[in-house]
Amino acid sequence: MFLQNLQFLVIPLKSSKMFEHKINFGGIKENILIKKNIFQPNLTTQLSYETAINIIKNQYEVLDLGCGSGIIGIMIMKKFPNVKMNCSDVDSNSIDLTIKNFKKKKIKADIRKGDLLEVWINKKFDYIINDVSGISSSIAKKSIWFSNNVPCDTGKDGSRLSVKIIKNSVKFLKKNGILQIPLISLSNIKKIIDTANIYFSEVKIHKSKDWFLPKEMESLKELMYKLKKLKYINFSEKFGKIVCNTAIAVCKGPKKK
Ligand SMILES: C[S@@+](CC[C@H](N)C(=O)[O-])C[C@H]1O[C@@H](n2cnc3c(N)ncnc32)[C@H](O)[C@@H]1O
Repeated sequence: MFLQNLQFLVIPLKSSKMFEHKINFGGIKENILIKKNIFQPNLTTQLSYETAINIIKNQYEVLDLGCGSGIIGIMIMKKFPNVKMNCSDVDSNSIDLTIKNFKKKKIKADIRKGDLLEVWINKKFDYIINDVSGISSSIAKKSIWFSNNVPCDTGKDGSRLSVKIIKNSVKFLKKNGILQIPLISLSNIKKIIDTANIYFSEVKIHKSKDWFLPKEMESLKELMYKLKKLKYINFSEKFGKIVCNTAIAVCKGPKKK
């Protein structure tokens, strides 16, 4: 139920700040280059990947939005080599590393730097994997995942970017296109789902996993209770530990607006 199924091993490379990250998502293994100042793949990465591979078809045009190191796009291409892969991120360091990782693996992709869907004007996708930052900005900047390096302009309830993506995605999806979004309980999930239900005819949860707040973040408990009271985030407490949840929603049937 909790994080113990996840296996990550980080091996520092000698003369640079780059790291080789060995990833094992339920037996599917991959090595990618990572830097300390970009997002380190985590449970959301794994659930996003596991959801996508159950739905994507080999000829799909896919967008990995908020690609970070490019890990999701790379793992999908290993499984579906005929997919037309596209990746984007607003962060230059992430895009540089995505380009390096795709080159190293000799995998082709259209990789662009830019804010949300802005860089994809005139393009339409069969499948968009949204993995853009999606937790409360107040928590993000004090977290072990984002600190001050990874962009996370999500607002106090964490929903700003997700809501914007859902609203705009309809213009970037083909007629039967699909949008995948992470629902992390450190954001206003109700607002995100309500928006998805306005713009899509079907919204279903495909994966859901509880996890303990990492020890290093236990000092945020007071702030988290304040945000919970405002209904910005949600969590429970078990054995004195904070339990959060990550789920992946799949939105089908984009409605013309
Ligand atoms: C949770 S990380 C996911 C990274 C990668 N998919 C992974 O699983 O390792 C979120 C990513 O969204 C990017 N991001 C944040 N704001 C963005 C924006 N406005 N437009 C595009 N990408 C953004 C961050 O730079 C970061 O790489």
